[in-house]
Amino acid sequence: MKKVDVLLGLQWGDEGKGKIVDVVTPKYDIIARFQGGPNAGHTLIFDNQKYVLHTIPSGIFRDNTINVIGNGVVIDPIIIREEIEKLEAVGVDVVSKLLISKKAHLILPTHKILDKYSEEQKGKKKIGSTLKGIGPTYMDKTGRNGLRMGDSLASNFKEKYNQLVEKHQSILGDYDYADLLAEFEPQWFEAMDFLSKFTLIDSEHYINNAMKDGKSVLAEGAQGTMLDIDFGTYPYVTSSNTVTAGTCTGLGVAPNRIGAVIGIFKAYCTRVGSGPFPSELDNDTGENIRKIGHEYGATTGRDRRCGWIDLPALKYAIMINGATELSMMKADVLDSFEEIEVCTHYLIDGEKFDYFPYDIDNLDVQPVYKKIKGWNQDLTGLTDMADAPQAFLDYITYLEQELQTPISIVSVGPDRAQTIIRK
Ligand code: GDP
Ligand code: IMO
Ligand code: MG
Repeated sequence: MKKVDVLLGLQWGDEGKGKIVDVVTPKYDIIARFQGGPNAGHTLIFDNQKYVLHTIPSGIFRDNTINVIGNGVVIDPIIIREEIEKLEAVGVDVVSKLLISKKAHLILPTHKILDKYSEEQKGKKKIGSTLKGIGPTYMDKTGRNGLRMGDSLASNFKEKYNQLVEKHQSILGDYDYADLLAEFEPQWFEAMDFLSKFTLIDSEHYINNAMKDGKSVLAEGAQGTMLDIDFGTYPYVTSSNTVTAGTCTGLGVAPNRIGAVIGIFKAYCTRVGSGPFPSELDNDTGENIRKIGHEYGATTGRDRRCGWIDLPALKYAIMINGATELSMMKADVLDSFEEIEVCTHYLIDGEKFDYFPYDIDNLDVQPVYKKIKGWNQDLTGLTDMADAPQAFLDYITYLEQELQTPISIVSVGPDRAQTIIRK
């Protein structure tokens, strides 16, 4: 029986998961999303065209690959409908290639309103949510009130919907949401009708049967390890388990059926939204990285906060995920740097830390950097590591030694073709 490989982010999201899933998809029969929802924005670039996927797995452009949205994902019918229509407009036969779990939870218009309400209530302590209704939907899931894709097949669907909306209305009280609800609700039901042409499956059976039949499966993560609900920088996190364990609960795959775990990281580091980021560069260097790396959110367009790579955070992420190999992204963004820096540990009140302390948010965490000679050379045309500048190879070797994990994929540009698979 085959195992499920997992590809997920080791930082705060936007590492380039979509790009690499698309690159490796020809090796797989099935690509499956296991958590998150339209808070994700996964960018794919090929043939001079850019596509951003939010809910649909990044294997959708390749022929002969089935894409599964697992039970752990939360779906906004309005957003997924837009995604599907965009794909259909460029000739992708989505209906035949996309299967959706009956157990995936639905994001209602009132979940999005609750997200906005919650952030407004938090004021300065807001999470910086994408406001896609992710938190409230997972709250209803764990609170056992949620509405699932499979419910749409039952005759009392509207009744269940109304019950949940009433519950939300009682929370919202006199908050001003009538206009938003009036705008979203008709679109939501139209989108549910649109989705009725898709096959709803028991995805846990589907995936396990596929493995028994010798099919290969890749689980595609959303967000990143440092945004995990349990292991991220709580409360500045998303509401799902973004780590390898999330594959087990989000697809119904047993832990001993997990195969390779490919952890993705940028050659530097970014974060969008609030929360601790010890190696953040609130200066010209950070601004430079943002400009060169086009570090603006794929879902919200917000500026991404930029900084140097953070080894303690990466080591932690590798440990939690059991990463067996790594994919280093966006090295080309540092091409013009004479010198780059790597955060090796932190100082808190003069004391050395090589992990994130529990109350990091209330502490003055000083990153300590090691300076590394830059390669100062254009990497974007690199196709063979044998042609790579020595300083770049040294950077890779240094990271592999520090992280004790091989870097098997190196990405030197946003295009599908700008990817080097190392033997
Ligand atoms: P994801 O959420 O992990 O799929 O990542 P995003 O798509 O949100 O953000 C990654 C961004 O970096 C996208 O704009 C990609 O097109 C771009 N990108 C991916 N890999 C590379 C790379 O190696 N170099 C450069 N310059 N850009 C890249
Ligand atoms: P991909 O899959 C980067 C961040 C938000 C916010 C926090 C909570 O593209 O890597 P939420 O909407 O979940 O309530 O937001 O998490 N966030 C992401 N940051 N990439 C993502 O997804 C993200 N999804 C959520 O900015 O700080
Ligand atoms: Mg993204």
